[in-house]
Amino acid sequence: MPPEPFSDALAQLRWLRTAEGTAAAARAGALLAEGADLLPGLARLRAEVGPGHAGPAWELARLRARARPVFGADADRLFLTADSLEQAGRPALAARRAARLLAGSTGSVADLGCAAGTDTIALARGGAHVTAVDRDPVARELTAANVAALGLADRVRVVDGDAVELVAAAAGGTVAGCAAATLDPARRAGGRRQLDPDRWSPPWSTVATLLERVPTTVVKVAPGLDHDRVPAGIEAEWVSVGGSIVEALLWGRGRAETWRRATLVRDGEVRELTAGADPGPAPVGPVRAWLHEPDPAAIRSGLVSLVAADLGATLVDPTIAYLTSDSASDSPWVSSYRVDEVLPFNLKKLKALLRVRGVGRVTVKKRGSAIEPETLARQLRGPGGGTATVVVTRVAGAPTALVCGVDSSA
Ligand SMILES: C[S@@+](CC[C@H](N)C(=O)[O-])C[C@H]1O[C@@H](n2cnc3c(N)ncnc32)[C@H](O)[C@@H]1O
Repeated sequence: MPPEPFSDALAQLRWLRTAEGTAAAARAGALLAEGADLLPGLARLRAEVGPGHAGPAWELARLRARARPVFGADADRLFLTADSLEQAGRPALAARRAARLLAGSTGSVADLGCAAGTDTIALARGGAHVTAVDRDPVARELTAANVAALGLADRVRVVDGDAVELVAAAAGGTVAGCAAATLDPARRAGGRRQLDPDRWSPPWSTVATLLERVPTTVVKVAPGLDHDRVPAGIEAEWVSVGGSIVEALLWGRGRAETWRRATLVRDGEVRELTAGADPGPAPVGPVRAWLHEPDPAAIRSGLVSLVAADLGATLVDPTIAYLTSDSASDSPWVSSYRVDEVLPFNLKKLKALLRVRGVGRVTVKKRGSAIEPETLARQLRGPGGGTATVVVTRVAGAPTALVCGVDSSA
């Protein structure tokens, strides 16, 4: 075996930035685009660019292909590692955040923990001068490589620094010499999600200090963040794309406009729900003709009662985020299901009922129940050709099954 030419990830990345590395990654990309499988593709690349160089070039091409659906045309120019791609936010959302943070000004912004530079790029494209800080040398090299590849290097200074120390030294509304900041703490360690904000890097204490001292700030936090953590005067926003939460943000006092915001992005359209103060819970009532599942951004932001008021709907249970009303809704904030049957949850009775209605295949949804949807869907399979959605939940405290949208003709 020839010796491995790279002593570490940094040396590998620096080689990938050379003309030789760029050509090798492009060749690997072409092989992947032709549909080459791993072993034969890698064997061909080894023969062409040398055994030690083929692996890193192949890996970069693979990561670029994985990034392409979200990063678009940029993906083919970006330098990525598996880690940095996993940690990267969506560029379209980074651009939206950058626009709000900059609010038309083109001042200086500190990106505290830049990783591969998704936020740095969005801020620089928004016209800001960015101080991109990371304590990880690979992250700094990635950001430097990426801003250079995208023609943004003259707007970005990449700095070795500790965000904890920089924030501790923040004063006069500035941090690291900048009048605005973005912070996206690492919320994974050893491949595992860190649920406790005190274990993020930088930890919650740094998040709180930054929000306190630098008003023009946005911090990305875990979507599961407890509302009690959000300091007074700070806006918390939950963003969903295609029905799943993709990010949660805390806006500093210089950018906060409201108490909570739910943002829904679907097919490129953005819709928002806001409340200047806690709107309180929605009223509770019996199950009616339609069941509505609110978008997770409305649920996480505590704004389900606004959706309920809009629909004239009530909750099926005070602890469960399912709404019910007399009519269907085309609101983007809910998915609606026609309720055909409501029965106390009992597997045997549910099976019998589905059989009578000719339903042999169901989709199972659940909220407030320990059942495992795929297992229950399998258990409910029957000979009938019809379909339905079975919702297992609590209604006024009782485990209940709602059989919805029965289509016996399917
Ligand atoms: C979640 S990533 C940032 C992702 C980036 N915003 C993006 O969308 O690509 C967090 C980054 O913060 C860096 N980091 C963590 N703790 C740090 C600290 N105390 N000082 C500086 N950088 C830190 C990590 O090395 C990592 O690159």
